[in-house]
Amino acid sequence: MEMDHISYIDKIPNNVDLGRDRVLQRALEHWQPAYMGWWYDMGPAESHNFDVYLRTAVSVDPEGWAQFDYVKMPHYRWGIFLVPPTGGREVNFGVNKGQPAWQEVPGEFRSTLRRIIVTQGDTEPASVEQQRMLGASCPSLYDLRNIFQVNVEEGRHLWAMVYLLHRYFGRDGREEAEALLERRSGDADNPRILGAFNEPTPDWLAFFMFTFFTDRDGKYQLSSLAESGFDPLARTCRFMLTEEAHHMFVGETGIGRIVQRTAEVMAERKIDEPNRVRAEGVIDLQTMQRYLNFHYSVTLDLFGSDVSSNAATYYTTGLKGRFEETRIKDDHVLTDDTYDVMEVVGDQVVTKAVPALTALNERLRDDYIREVQSGVDRWNRIITKTGAPFRLTLPHKGFHRAIGNFAGRHIGLDGRVMSEAEWKKHEYEWLPGPQDHAFVQSLMAGRVVEPGKFANWIAPPRAGINNQPLNFEYVRFN
Ligand SMILES: [Fe+2]
Ligand SMILES: [Fe+2]
Repeated sequence: MEMDHISYIDKIPNNVDLGRDRVLQRALEHWQPAYMGWWYDMGPAESHNFDVYLRTAVSVDPEGWAQFDYVKMPHYRWGIFLVPPTGGREVNFGVNKGQPAWQEVPGEFRSTLRRIIVTQGDTEPASVEQQRMLGASCPSLYDLRNIFQVNVEEGRHLWAMVYLLHRYFGRDGREEAEALLERRSGDADNPRILGAFNEPTPDWLAFFMFTFFTDRDGKYQLSSLAESGFDPLARTCRFMLTEEAHHMFVGETGIGRIVQRTAEVMAERKIDEPNRVRAEGVIDLQTMQRYLNFHYSVTLDLFGSDVSSNAATYYTTGLKGRFEETRIKDDHVLTDDTYDVMEVVGDQVVTKAVPALTALNERLRDDYIREVQSGVDRWNRIITKTGAPFRLTLPHKGFHRAIGNFAGRHIGLDGRVMSEAEWKKHEYEWLPGPQDHAFVQSLMAGRVVEPGKFANWIAPPRAGINNQPLNFEYVRFN
């Protein structure tokens, strides 16, 4: 393996004047070899010699942020970009509303802010770790290229958070940056911070579900942080959102293409019984529904407790806003407002109003659910067009939750409160079980790498990447 220890600072595309800040340079020079070590260990398996047709950001302007070319992934130029400052930006919410936005970390918020940045940063390498084996079972070169694109950009998002830690948090920040390379997804002793990022992503159906549901949690978290009164964080997150859009595109179109392929086969053969659908070598929609139920519910947990004093603090201090905070027409202080949350009382799910400040996690979760629902509607339109008699649905918000008011309760898909024994009886109707995983993996036993070819279980996309044809050689194996 080859690594650059000396001149890499010049090679990091950036718009933060990296070359001028000696302290920051030294910190990054120390961290970069450790990052590369992590990438070789935990990045996409056996990919180090591949030439991949990747998008690299070399600046934030419209021409610069999406440059396409072949890159050997370990040579990817993980850049550091913040959207340019807007003059006179203020803290837009909370008790500090109206103050000039902070360009340095206010001392009293230091540990809170560091925690927010570390928690976000930890998700980035986690998803790369979760996805590292999937190249061996890709359904096409197009899809292989897309997963690699997602992986290098999650790597860049880690750089983005590490930049903030190094630049603004001194020694504590450097220690946190190292720890970000030491935790491992799913590790019993040193796991990633958040639950969904310790779940395995065993196959491509799970990968597409993950990028649709869980990368979208990323979008909502980044959007809230893009409102932050700490300006460097806001500007960093705003740029990350441009990349996140592609990850969600990969997820939505990936599921859409699987749905399309299955629904076409069902209509063509006039079959709807899951085993007959499976016998055609495509994924039955019932299995897709179970995967959906799983990824949706574990992702809902990422938003945190329905009622949370931490969320109130983040908001009141001006560190983390609401989704599209500055477009909301209210006082942006919320001291007198209420918001509805659900809880379980006896064997009923009831709704009750709580102080809006404490319900900000729930509000963000609701914003997220609305967007997810419209994606599911688009999948259903694909099914409707083929005439297949099936609709994908989102489970009740309380289904299979481990955090917040539903934790420890047993809620059915339809929101019915039930005993653990009854819930267990339905577990593998509602969530993917060993047989589902075995079936999906049987379809994905090998990789499809002939340019222009797609595995039987997925339809081709409508268009290639960057206007390239579908039979373009998106990955060269050498
Ligand atoms: Fe990310
Ligand atoms: Fe992402």
